[in-house]
Amino acid sequence: MCGLIPEDDIHRVVGFDLGDDAGVYLLEDGTALVQTVDVITPLVDDSRQFGRIAAANAISDIYAMGAKPLTALNIVTFPDNCLPLTVLSDILQGGLDACREASCALMGGHTLRDDEIKYGLAVTGIAKADKIVTNAGARPGDALVLTKPIGTGLISTAIKRGKAKQVAIRAAVKSMITLNRDAAGAMTRVGAHACTDITGFGLLGHASQLARASGVTLVIRHEKAPLLPHVLELAKIGMAPGGTKNNIAAYKDKLRLPKKFERVMLEILFDPQTSGGLLIALPEEKASHLLRLLKRLKTPAAVIIGSVTRKRRGVDIILE
Ligand code: CO
Ligand code: CO
Ligand code: CO
Repeated sequence: MCGLIPEDDIHRVVGFDLGDDAGVYLLEDGTALVQTVDVITPLVDDSRQFGRIAAANAISDIYAMGAKPLTALNIVTFPDNCLPLTVLSDILQGGLDACREASCALMGGHTLRDDEIKYGLAVTGIAKADKIVTNAGARPGDALVLTKPIGTGLISTAIKRGKAKQVAIRAAVKSMITLNRDAAGAMTRVGAHACTDITGFGLLGHASQLARASGVTLVIRHEKAPLLPHVLELAKIGMAPGGTKNNIAAYKDKLRLPKKFERVMLEILFDPQTSGGLLIALPEEKASHLLRLLKRLKTPAAVIIGSVTRKRRGVDIILE
């Protein structure tokens, strides 16, 4: 986005400015069009699973804004000189599986030759304009709820280096293929002030963006953050992916840490996620209702990880 200054348009109500999940364009009849695109490289061995994960990851930005996915287009790069085309069709089949589950019509797409496999979707969703949830609405007194455990970045690095245990791989895949549909449905039903999904910037990176966009400070209780199996061990043996360091560097200045905070825990909290959960800010008195719904819907996690306080100058997050 660097250097891109979009022209002002009265229809464009949410854009690049505050680092929100998707762009929102208002139509004349009060319908909001929500658009996003996301492409990733393989992180599991099974092609169909990878396709499903990449699609769930792309659709997630629609759910994070309280919208429903409507249509999607495939974007795929593929080295057809060294891999059989069945790999490509398996990836696309996985994407179709996720779109079907999301009741999102896959309209086509575009394939390019490249040395590396990459796959994702451009997705369009809709919502009533007044039902859109952005990352900018969190208010002091809100509770912060997270709907998936973290650690997919550590586990995918461990897969690449042959260090991941089956139980960790299975749990990560299960969480990543799970759509944020149910979590978003519950959020819409209960009513939330703000939301974002947890992806490349990690839990604390996306939480920082929400804090900045909302003009508040978040208090996050690190021991409440739900972790995928073996994530702590993997962090201890140096499985943090390259993105973690960049995330820490980008957000640490406005992060207040407890005394003697362990580096591995920081790496986990900044672990880049693929198809991560929703971080939802909502009035504290509504939080138990949301947790009840999330548990009934069996979202991969359903925990209060902290709260929202008034803005402390120069501080996005107070970690406890
Ligand atoms: Co997002
Ligand atoms: Co995205
Ligand atoms: Co084309």
